[in-house]
Amino acid sequence: MTDTSPSTPRTDRVDFRATSDPALQAGEVKLLDYRELYELWERQQWATQDLDFAQDRIDWHERIPPEERFQRMYGLSSFFVGEQRVAAELGPLMRAVPDEAMRLFLCTQIADEARHVAFFDRFYREVGVLDAGDLDDRLRAAHEHLNPEFHELFDEQLKARADRLAREPEDLECAVEFVTIYHMVVEGMLALTGQHFIIDYNEQQGTLPAFVEGFTNVARDEHRHVAFGARFLRDMARRDPRYGEAIQRTLIEVGPAADGVLKPKWMDEADDQETLFGVSVDETRAFAMQALQRRLKVIGLAAAA
Ligand SMILES: [Fe+2]
Ligand SMILES: [Fe+2]
Repeated sequence: MTDTSPSTPRTDRVDFRATSDPALQAGEVKLLDYRELYELWERQQWATQDLDFAQDRIDWHERIPPEERFQRMYGLSSFFVGEQRVAAELGPLMRAVPDEAMRLFLCTQIADEARHVAFFDRFYREVGVLDAGDLDDRLRAAHEHLNPEFHELFDEQLKARADRLAREPEDLECAVEFVTIYHMVVEGMLALTGQHFIIDYNEQQGTLPAFVEGFTNVARDEHRHVAFGARFLRDMARRDPRYGEAIQRTLIEVGPAADGVLKPKWMDEADDQETLFGVSVDETRAFAMQALQRRLKVIGLAAAA
């Protein structure tokens, strides 16, 4: 019944569709409730320790040319540092959400984000992507590859909301803004778009098999997180139209920074046709926007960004 064979496109797989992420289904979408999302988490476990990076190490050093390694570092480092940032910032939301069933799910998401950091750390360490001592050193070195928009989105926009929620957990409008940035923009628009193209590219090139296996598991986790975000924002917008306005306002506010993250700093400013992982910035943007629009429709909002 569960089709997880490699011949099935990733996003058509039964275990991916089970997450109820609106971007994966055309037409009517039934969003899972918080308990169903929690139960899905129990059924979708995986371990970074099960991955063997021996072939990936050979591919990275002997089959991928140095210039391409450098270009790939932008995408990979965005994920490595991005996973660390979201793992570190989710605690205040977990405390602030108004219902216990929401909180139960968010506890599982914090564990997932920790596993995603551990996955990238193992990949960087065992493949020898960076010459650095420990996790903190590797994160600092990976950060060198990122652009100012990444810093603005994660270390300013997202962090400001997390800090406010930590001080005032009863500020539900701030919780809605936080989920809009975290689940809709960072995970839904940026992470899932990057994952889609990076996995496809490695599959086409026949490179980094253990990375592809682990990153596919990360992507399945992210679809579940985004499904939570869509459910939460829909429920909150139904409770009070003020929250729907907060979602729209936040999307407009963070749109330029999110767009900037899609474009590596080594790319020509004016050229949106330059490619990374086999696709142009324009194609990446179009994919990200379509996913956002499908999710906003299910939440009950027209696309604003
Ligand atoms: Fe993650
Ligand atoms: Fe996530």
